[in-house]
Amino acid sequence: MKEAILVVGGAGYIGSHVVQTFLKADCDVTVFDNMSSGQEINLFSQARFIRGDVQDRDQLKALFSERFDAVIHLAGLKAAGESMVIPERYAYQNINGTMNLLEAISLSETRIIVFSSSAAVYGMPHYMPLDENHPVEPINFYGFTKYEIERFLDWYDRLKGIKFASLRYFNAAGYDPEGNIRGLEKNPANLIPVVMEVAAGMRESMEVFGNDFPTPDGTGIRDYIHVSDLASAHLMAYQHIRQTKQSLTLNLGTGKGHSVLDVIRMAEKITGKKLNFNITGRRAGDPAELYASSATALKTLGWEPTLSDLESLVKTTWQNYERLCPE
Ligand code: WQD
Repeated sequence: MKEAILVVGGAGYIGSHVVQTFLKADCDVTVFDNMSSGQEINLFSQARFIRGDVQDRDQLKALFSERFDAVIHLAGLKAAGESMVIPERYAYQNINGTMNLLEAISLSETRIIVFSSSAAVYGMPHYMPLDENHPVEPINFYGFTKYEIERFLDWYDRLKGIKFASLRYFNAAGYDPEGNIRGLEKNPANLIPVVMEVAAGMRESMEVFGNDFPTPDGTGIRDYIHVSDLASAHLMAYQHIRQTKQSLTLNLGTGKGHSVLDVIRMAEKITGKKLNFNITGRRAGDPAELYASSATALKTLGWEPTLSDLESLVKTTWQNYERLCPE
């Protein structure tokens, strides 16, 4: 009998890469997505698709009348800046949505959930690289919702025996090297898609948010992790929990950082285009640098990133934007 996996948010950018990874592991995959940011182009014919919303408690309960060996939960809003303007939307979609999911899971036989958490739970770094023991002090409401959900998962482990993996992504980037996933984010705010839109002529120029940070070139440094590397960590975390019945909280990053200008220069090299940008003031809440220690993921799962060098991140992204290039 094939392992049955439910991917909530499986039509999204990261979700579709997770779906592909579980399909390649010969699992029976069901995608559940409200398509608010998920895209049809990201759906795989080999995976069953159910259009639905984690706000619909009855639909979720009906869904869980079927057997799932695990739930991969990636449905949630993720714009840190927006979360500070309309926190109620993030509380409702992220926290309440997860509560509805846990209610439906509790009534079923399913006892494994892999959750898309974020490095945003840490807030400003006290030391580097950030390991899982770093203080958790989110500085935006989005990061707060991710941490609150982690705490609910811990309680549902204690009360209902639902084992979890909370995977704290650093900066997800890149696309499937085989080009099977093509959905581009609409109105992106993250650095690499913004740079790609400039390269593809979709926007005139971009802003570099500050070049007066205490970093080698003055611009912000982040730990960019390839989305396919993230996806393999989801499969490995599921397999680990299935074997050990132990819950996990893991950082997923490379342990290395790249600056904004590093990314722009790499994009100019790969695309052969000169990219217009102007230096503006810092963005509120931006730390100078953030990069992960993923030693725990290596030790526990044997996971290490293989596609997350800057060239691969930019090249695999450009392969999707290049198609849109006017010339
Ligand atoms: C990266 C760097 C910016 C855009 C965010 C969320 C976090 C997580 C990852 C989900 C920074 C600079 C960016 C631009 C720029 N999301 N930048 N001009 O802020 O590290 O993290 O995405 O889990 O929760 O907060 O990512 O891509 O926005 O910024 O100069 O137009 O690029 O200042 O140094 P960030 P980002």
